[in-house]
Amino acid sequence: MLSYNLIITNYFLSNTKNFMKPLKILLFSLTLLVAFLLLGSQFLTYDASIISEKNSSPYYDYHALHSRDGIGKFYLGREIAKVMGHQEFLWLERPSREQQENPQKLLEVLNIKPTDTIADIGAGSGYFSFRLASLVPDGKVFAVDIQPEMLDIIDFFKKENEVNNIETILGTIKNPNLPKNMVDIVLMVDAYHEFEYPREMMDNIVTSLPPGGKVILAEYRRENPLIPIKTLHKMTEKQVKNEMDFVGLTWEKTEEILPQQHLIFFTKI
Ligand SMILES: C[S@@+](CC[C@H](N)C(=O)[O-])C[C@H]1O[C@@H](n2cnc3c(N)ncnc32)[C@H](O)[C@@H]1O
Repeated sequence: MLSYNLIITNYFLSNTKNFMKPLKILLFSLTLLVAFLLLGSQFLTYDASIISEKNSSPYYDYHALHSRDGIGKFYLGREIAKVMGHQEFLWLERPSREQQENPQKLLEVLNIKPTDTIADIGAGSGYFSFRLASLVPDGKVFAVDIQPEMLDIIDFFKKENEVNNIETILGTIKNPNLPKNMVDIVLMVDAYHEFEYPREMMDNIVTSLPPGGKVILAEYRRENPLIPIKTLHKMTEKQVKNEMDFVGLTWEKTEEILPQQHLIFFTKI
């Protein structure tokens, strides 16, 4: 009788196990799917309206499903980042930036002459414009931004500190509105990856330089996932070189002297 009971119980258990197996797999898959969707929604968004811009330019691709930090527009395989709003200008002026970015070291390798004309494009609150201005007492800095509020901040600090060699310029998303052939050095710090029309911007920037003029970009290193900056706000050296090559600039050198950023030099031949 006992052995008969054992046989029945075993039969029942093994059948239950067989029955539970697909259920377990189903539950596991559902959990994975929910986790994936929850995680994905942190990083991704869907915006079909961007698709209407398809065919508006040969340079860009548009994807409705894209990163939350981007605009759904892609240039040479890179999704363009959202613009950092002027409300966040205090972040640009954070004291820890000295240690994170070492701006002094950046300025030292630019090889600036006191008579140079320098354009700081995507100048923000002027963190670099003012440092550059002190290095060109007989030259000039054009501080360019598309947000008038940022230029207001620069104009305020200009007055406060009696700085006379910075000219603020309100650019458009396609054109920094610089005078032609007048700029010796164009500097873009943590800004280029936000340009909504990088191709048009760069074509106009190249026009502002005489032959021999320099374009210098500082961008957080995307190759290093441990650098605590949003992915789309970082760039690989390879991507920067690709995009500058596309507008006819010649790579000169990359200085890996900064704690977290590439500093990449190009020349207009
Ligand atoms: C992250 S902030 C960096 C500001 C500054 N370079 C610095 O290092 O403190 C990027 C700035 O680029 C500006 N920007 C974005 N697209 C631009 C464009 N097409 N032309 C000029 N400025 C632009 C934004 O308005 C923003 O002020």
